Amino acid sequence: MIVRKTLKGLRRQLDQAKKEGKTIGFTPTLGALHQGHVSLINRTVEENEISVCSIFVNPTQFNEKSDLKKYPRTFQADSKLLKEANLDILFFPSANQVYPKGLNTKVKVNLGGLDTLMEGGFRPGHFEGVVQVVKRLLDMVQPDRLYMGQKDFQQFTIIQKMINELKIKTELVVCPIVREPHGLAMSSRNERLSKETRKKAKVIFNTLSEIKANLNDKSPEEWMEWSMKKLKRKPFNPEYVSIVDGHTLLPVKSFRKHKYVVVCAAVWADDVRLIDNVILKNNSK
Ligand code: PAJ
Repeated sequence: MIVRKTLKGLRRQLDQAKKEGKTIGFTPTLGALHQGHVSLINRTVEENEISVCSIFVNPTQFNEKSDLKKYPRTFQADSKLLKEANLDILFFPSANQVYPKGLNTKVKVNLGGLDTLMEGGFRPGHFEGVVQVVKRLLDMVQPDRLYMGQKDFQQFTIIQKMINELKIKTELVVCPIVREPHGLAMSSRNERLSKETRKKAKVIFNTLSEIKANLNDKSPEEWMEWSMKKLKRKPFNPEYVSIVDGHTLLPVKSFRKHKYVVVCAAVWADDVRLIDNVILKNNSK
């Protein structure tokens, strides 16, 4: 595995590969890697001749300065995991490389309101920062395929919209959610939970799964109310549970009228904010 910290160094490596007609797969991350990230890296390595992963704690997507400060930085452990996964190139740039002085990296794109719902409502400016950094990283890496996780449902939906709107020649590959054995979606934030809360946090996936298993017993609105109540038990406090159309991310009134429906939730567990989702139905393919 080769580590590159500058755009120049990265391009030297990739221009050669491009000249040879090799396919490039790319997984962007914030680091603090876990098995969820590794599943994306494995796909990147398997499906492309050259695999690239970036670790960059992007300041523009953190709406809370304290959250940015608290974000775990575990470069040694991360690079060990990536090496073991047979990654070719680890891109580990500084903020100056990603956002050099004088370069306008702000992205003008019509996201059709996708960025104002759910996470967008509670984390103002967050998706603007995500779009900015992913666009910039795509410009830097120029991959054939981009790998992202279903874990961040709204994030990959917005990035797909950006790719379509800006006609970027990169295919987005969405990978399934990797979970801890009892069901909690893997996240670097899980490390901040107490042992007891981490165990109890299976209630999030259990609740969303119960909706899927008994979908037609209640209306979407009734399910949302039911799950908010179920998740409002110490140490948990739900911010939202939304049952939405998988394409528009707008709340659905009936299951029958939509082909692609997903339930997304954000739940506080003590002082840690967890997100998860389950696809309730998908007949849109
Ligand atoms: P980060 O949270 O590090 O996640 C990197 C990628 O890993 C994302 O596409 C995310 O959806 C995926 N991922 C995280 N947990 C997962 C899990 N349990 N199962 C499957 N995939 C999982 O998301 C970001 O970073 C940033 O916003 C980024 C896209 C890198 C832009 O800065």
